[in-house]
Amino acid sequence: MTLITEPNLDPELVRAALPADWPAPEALGFGQHLGPYLITADHDGSGWSAARILRRDDARLAIASGGLQYGLSVFEGMKAYRAPDGGIHLFRPQMHLRRLQASAARLHLPPVDEALFLRSCMLAVRVHEAMLPPAGRGALYLRPTIHADEEALGLKQAARHRYSVTVTPGSDPQLKSLRMWAEDELIRAAPGGLGAAKTGANYAAGLSGLLRARERGYDDVIWLDAATHRWLGEAGTMNLFVQIGGRLLTPPLDGTILAGVTRDSLLQLARKEGLEVAEQGIGLGQLRTAATSGTLGCAFGCGTASRIVRIQGVGSVHGEIAIPDNGLPERLSERLKAVQEGTAKEHADWRVAC
Ligand code: COI
Repeated sequence: MTLITEPNLDPELVRAALPADWPAPEALGFGQHLGPYLITADHDGSGWSAARILRRDDARLAIASGGLQYGLSVFEGMKAYRAPDGGIHLFRPQMHLRRLQASAARLHLPPVDEALFLRSCMLAVRVHEAMLPPAGRGALYLRPTIHADEEALGLKQAARHRYSVTVTPGSDPQLKSLRMWAEDELIRAAPGGLGAAKTGANYAAGLSGLLRARERGYDDVIWLDAATHRWLGEAGTMNLFVQIGGRLLTPPLDGTILAGVTRDSLLQLARKEGLEVAEQGIGLGQLRTAATSGTLGCAFGCGTASRIVRIQGVGSVHGEIAIPDNGLPERLSERLKAVQEGTAKEHADWRVAC
């Protein structure tokens, strides 16, 4: 089967079209500058068509599609890095693919297979190579998406779907320190719901939490469990880690939080450096007790877009918890950056050459 119909778009076209005021890598931010091309394929019920390159401006979104009307859409956020030797690689694409397939299964969307996923992502990177910052100064973020594309207003499993890969170059994320508000009224996800799927509904549910936290003067939201509002779930768009009594803890994958690729990478790196690590429930009260008793080492959020952000305080209706910083977030962040970019030799299997 033909996987890609037009693999030969000259990357120089993208380079030549970059505006004269194209920002320095440090000024790219995240998600502001989109690649001009999509890699896309269609599914008519019998299988995926060959992928093709399409100008993003020419892409059509059906207003009456299930993707738009009912949120029948799942996506990934994955990065491509430039190694010091100039080579380009994807970071943990197989793990991203597994999660995309799990998200697609939850929403009854057709899964993409490994060959289509890898080839389309690699092509998206190669076409937009001119937008990828130099080694150490940023990455190309890929957004593979599957959505229901059939125009029909009844709620059903669609007869037609579309797969697409969009890219955006981004700055190397800085290690910020944020204050988080633990939301105890709204919820992001509940057992049996969509919380583990990477789908727009979770982000739509999350936006009001972020805005409510900001109204209170905080930077981001921490979601608590739906039933008791006592257990930490995840932050706005990140997984959470807390170090208490020397043990590095992160909430378990109970179906209400996303199985973060960065979360998994950090669990493995931390174990390798001899830290005691556990996936277990973390109570908001436990965080407060640890802060008061001096056993709290640090807390941080992590994700593909942000890598690691320090949490310097958690506010809630029960009061403010000041979080110390014992240096672990910075150490793990640097270690992860080295593995992602390939300046460290370890976990070579996490980097797949484009
Ligand atoms: C990521 O970190 O990959 C995300 O999905 C965050 C994005 C929603 C901004």
